[in-house]
Amino acid sequence: MPKEVWVLHGPNLGLLGRREPLLYGKNALASIDKRLVSLGEELGLNVTPFQTNHEGALIDRLTIAIDQADGCLLNPAAFTHTSLALADTLRSVTIPVVEVHLTNLYARERDRQTSLTGSAVRGVIMGLGAMSYELGLRALHALLLGGGNRRSRR
Ligand code: DQA
Repeated sequence: MPKEVWVLHGPNLGLLGRREPLLYGKNALASIDKRLVSLGEELGLNVTPFQTNHEGALIDRLTIAIDQADGCLLNPAAFTHTSLALADTLRSVTIPVVEVHLTNLYARERDRQTSLTGSAVRGVIMGLGAMSYELGLRALHALLLGGGNRRSRR
């Protein structure tokens, strides 16, 4: 049975390709998702992408993931820096969540250098454009096969 991996994209990521392309790249979200679905097939993962601009919808989806998915790849977008509620949900999630960012948050504006979610997930990959997602999926794959740092619960 393939493992279920949900890819959750936060606000404004639906605009990728048209949104500040010098910063976020020219790839549309649909092409990133397509690549993740086919990489998932290679790895034996069933990848289901989801994008929302709404904090509550992201929280609801993560809550459902606890029972319906084996792992999540999450780009919380701006909620990374603002959402204590999302961080609370992430701390309650028992499946591994790998957070990804297209850009290197440490090299961004001061407000973006603060993350509320980063300490609540299993690991964070950032700064590598669309490759952050691909490496995140590979990391989840390894975690779901039982690899990774076992000292951490997440
Ligand atoms: C982002 C970084 C966030 O600061 C920003 O709000 C985003 C995208 C990234 O992938 O680099 O929407 O999460």
